[in-house]
Amino acid sequence: MPFRIVTKEALVGSVTLSVIFVAGYFIGKKKSSRMSISKSHCEGKNNPLLQYVLNHSMREHPVLKKLKMRTMEDSWNGMMVSSEESQFLTNLAKLIKTKKAIEIGVYTGYNTLNMALALPDDGVVVACDVSEEYTNIGKPFWKEAGVENKIDLRIQPALKTLDDLLSSGQAETFDFIFIDADKVNYDNYYEKSLQLLRKGGVIAIDNVLWGGKVLNPSPDDADTVAIDKLNKKLYRDARVNLSMLTVGDGVTLAIKL
Ligand SMILES: C[S@@+](CC[C@H](N)C(=O)[O-])C[C@H]1O[C@@H](n2cnc3c(N)ncnc32)[C@H](O)[C@@H]1O
Ligand SMILES: *[C@@H]1O[C@H](CO)[C@@H](O)[C@H](O)[C@H]1NC(C)=O
Ligand SMILES: *[C@@H]1O[C@H](CO)[C@@H](O)[C@H](O)[C@H]1NC(C)=O
Repeated sequence: MPFRIVTKEALVGSVTLSVIFVAGYFIGKKKSSRMSISKSHCEGKNNPLLQYVLNHSMREHPVLKKLKMRTMEDSWNGMMVSSEESQFLTNLAKLIKTKKAIEIGVYTGYNTLNMALALPDDGVVVACDVSEEYTNIGKPFWKEAGVENKIDLRIQPALKTLDDLLSSGQAETFDFIFIDADKVNYDNYYEKSLQLLRKGGVIAIDNVLWGGKVLNPSPDDADTVAIDKLNKKLYRDARVNLSMLTVGDGVTLAIKL
């Protein structure tokens, strides 16, 4: 398919300082090998085929639309999940009757809100982030949509939250987990998620193509190395069934066997 190929996000959050290093995003934008289709809210405006897809599939909740508009005012909006990917993930979550979900990397909470909307009244999404600044942007919208009671926001390193969930006896109780935080911890997030997930549950791992950089990982680029390493491990991992989708920056679905 003659997709117009464009690049997209790249970024990392620091555990201790809650600092986000986004320089790579802008550098990557100019230099990367243009190996992914874009997110609709980034370069996707110039992609007629993606526009066609959006025109014929998006059914965005009005409050999600408002949160997206608010997030576009933030400098780091390249971090936000694309609406089309989020709609796919939440459709999938519903399909497997998700009641308990985890969002690893919330930012302004677009996907967290979408997930909360997809959950039943007694459902919960444990929302993991280190930044109050970002998550505070989302909170009023979670409230406006009337689902803030389904969002359990925990401001601390996500690994700590996953450990807390495990030590409180919640292993094998989660249906859906979205991994979208700092890339160097991806394998740790994956291993903990696999423990927390029930059989038949789904882990969605975002940015697995990393703007095309996985084709030729530079040894001193820790993010790319971490993503590529996890991709290779997953390919051989008999604990899950796999799909690697080329939507956005690439998302892998790992289904626990
Ligand atoms: C790509 S954004 C998440 C986007 C989000 N899923 C959405 O729907 O738009 C990554 C987020 O991970 C957070 N983050 C970075 N390091 C983290 C860590 N160690 N623990 C938890 N969150 C972290 C950042 O603060 C940032 O908000
Ligand atoms: C998508 O919809 C917009 C708004 O209605 C329209 O301007 C645009 O031409 C459409 N593009 C495609 C490819 O369908
Ligand atoms: C996993 O994949 C194998 C091989 O494709 C298939 O036979 C099996 O039914 C799948 N299991 C699940 C739970 O989807």
